[in-house]
Amino acid sequence: MSQEDIESMMKEKRTFDPPKEHSDKAYITSMEQYEEIYKRSMEDPDGFWAERSEELIHWFKKWDSVSDYDLHKPEVKWYVGGKTNIAYNCLDRHLENGRRNKAAIIWQGEPEEDVRVYTYQMLHTEVCRFANVLKSMGVKRGDRVSIYLPMVPELAVAMLACTRIGAVHSIVFAGFSAVSLQNRIQDCEAKVLVTADAVLRAGRTIPLKPNADEAMGKCPSVEKCVVVKRAGNEISMQDGRDVWWHEIMEDESISDECPYEEMDAEDTAFILYTSGSTGKPKGVVHTTGGYLTYVAHTTQWVFDVHDDDVYWCTADVGWITGHSYIVYGPLALGATSLMFEGVPSYPSPARFWKVVEKFKVNIFYTAPTVVRALMREGVEWTRKHDLSSLRILGSVGEPINPEAWMWYFKYIGNEKLPICDTWWQTETGGILISALPYATPLKPGSATKPMPGVDAAVVRADGTNANPNEGGHLVIKKPWPGILRGVYGDPERYKSTYFERFPGMYESGDGARVDDEGYFWIMGRLDDVINVSGHRMGTAEIESALVSHESVAEAAVVGMPHQVKGETIYAYVTLKSGVEETDDLRKELRAWVRNEIGAIATPEVLQFADGLPKTRSGKIMRRVLRKIAASKYDDFGDTSTLADPGVISDLIEGKKSLL
Ligand code: WT7
Repeated sequence: MSQEDIESMMKEKRTFDPPKEHSDKAYITSMEQYEEIYKRSMEDPDGFWAERSEELIHWFKKWDSVSDYDLHKPEVKWYVGGKTNIAYNCLDRHLENGRRNKAAIIWQGEPEEDVRVYTYQMLHTEVCRFANVLKSMGVKRGDRVSIYLPMVPELAVAMLACTRIGAVHSIVFAGFSAVSLQNRIQDCEAKVLVTADAVLRAGRTIPLKPNADEAMGKCPSVEKCVVVKRAGNEISMQDGRDVWWHEIMEDESISDECPYEEMDAEDTAFILYTSGSTGKPKGVVHTTGGYLTYVAHTTQWVFDVHDDDVYWCTADVGWITGHSYIVYGPLALGATSLMFEGVPSYPSPARFWKVVEKFKVNIFYTAPTVVRALMREGVEWTRKHDLSSLRILGSVGEPINPEAWMWYFKYIGNEKLPICDTWWQTETGGILISALPYATPLKPGSATKPMPGVDAAVVRADGTNANPNEGGHLVIKKPWPGILRGVYGDPERYKSTYFERFPGMYESGDGARVDDEGYFWIMGRLDDVINVSGHRMGTAEIESALVSHESVAEAAVVGMPHQVKGETIYAYVTLKSGVEETDDLRKELRAWVRNEIGAIATPEVLQFADGLPKTRSGKIMRRVLRKIAASKYDDFGDTSTLADPGVISDLIEGKKSLL
């Protein structure tokens, strides 16, 4: 977050009361009710979480104990001894509770005319068939399946098919490169890869299968690859390994019925890779009973979803937001979830509002970067469509600055709708801090209060509680059912990243403060992680991609404030001696990173530097680099430990000559 944004949030004093309209049927309707539930959830967490799970989830066998944990170890278990199945909860039970013919997924493809609607019955059949396909390929309970797909319904089908048979899915965002895909497949040793011929994006066809081919060439664990035909572009299919989705799904030997596995509450449901401040991406592990309970719980209370609602979360299923709030949360509740393949700006900045009007969307959940991008296009686009079906607005991914908040509130919410600014992370499985739409008075820029059951706090470096308005580390002092259970294959990293610095607590890596009224204000990451358009990027990962290029000696990457994306990537690169600093090489290095990680990791600015600001012990002073990237040359703080203070003026000069 930039200094201006922080200052503008600190000054923010406006509050907005929750709406009365629609509140009669809301789940939680007042702050008193929230406080009461919250208090109870802190005093008797097991009782609270037992009740929530019983209410929301069908268990084949009840648990023996609600929770069993020791955050010092760390070890966390929920609903120990219980048996359930995620796909059963998202599909089968709705076939008997009156929702059989209700739309489970409304899919709007990028081309306006591409619409598909899956009722719960239809989705059930597709999922069973694909589960049988996976079984026919030798996939068994516990085996990993990688999924590298654009936003097509087959993505949801593949996920649910995995959870039905107890296979563990690992979804890789289709914007990631072949190398990123390869690393993720190798890390979890997936047996099957599900992909597509191409991605349709902003009117273009971007081939995807060649990336999958490149990755599979180095992934001996992959025995079979299923390919969804999305664009019909020419691709190569390897005999014996690759099969078309539409062909194998129509195979006569594939049955419509597939029994679900009775999974243990603590069996792994999926792995999702996310960037950290050091090393390669971590495989965040989520399990069955706790995750499912947690996403159902939060979807119900934060989005106040009712049976006749159309609910739309604009995220990509390749990120945790899509896992939890397009697929698992809404389907667990038997809701209608809209899945959108396109982008906000194509064919015009009115696209989102056109979709809202077309399907009469009631609940709309997006990211601040989208709001800011649309805000720049001008308010007239929002007026082209009828937005009166909207009832609740949501935001996720990064702090929403008060200016964007006000625009969202005014022009999309018509100054009436609640905005739920939801703070959470890949690791938390679901939303931890958010307003409840019909209960919480809103303060623009604040994620407001912790969800019931979430013991959030801000602590100082020594672990003691910060005072009101004192900035510090955002931690959670008790586990909740959706908390990650591990880093795949790396228990040491699980412990050191989340549980070592503040013993007995979960460390989020974010900075925050709590105001006098108990409202949380998130200030952004405290570690070397950049938030680009609401997506987390590790600086170390980008640096190691850069230094893997033959011309690069050293690289340092920092975030630079950006009007729309929140932050963008700024790279300082020192070349090997004898290599010339040219614009062509700059281009080549940016393309190199794109190819190594994905478009989202491409440095916006790449500055050649003869030297980096290092302390005498060799540590790079990133604070200095961040200041220079932001064109703030005044106050660098204490630079007395720098080995060569002259580096700073060289860097400033280099920066100025870039412009
Ligand atoms: C990081 C987690 C959770 C799904 C999307 C991102 C930032 C997320 C907010 C918010 C302020 C937020 C944090 C967090 N973040 N939501 N409402 N207000 N910051 O998931 O990639 O795991 O990133 O995103 O810095 O640590 P993720």
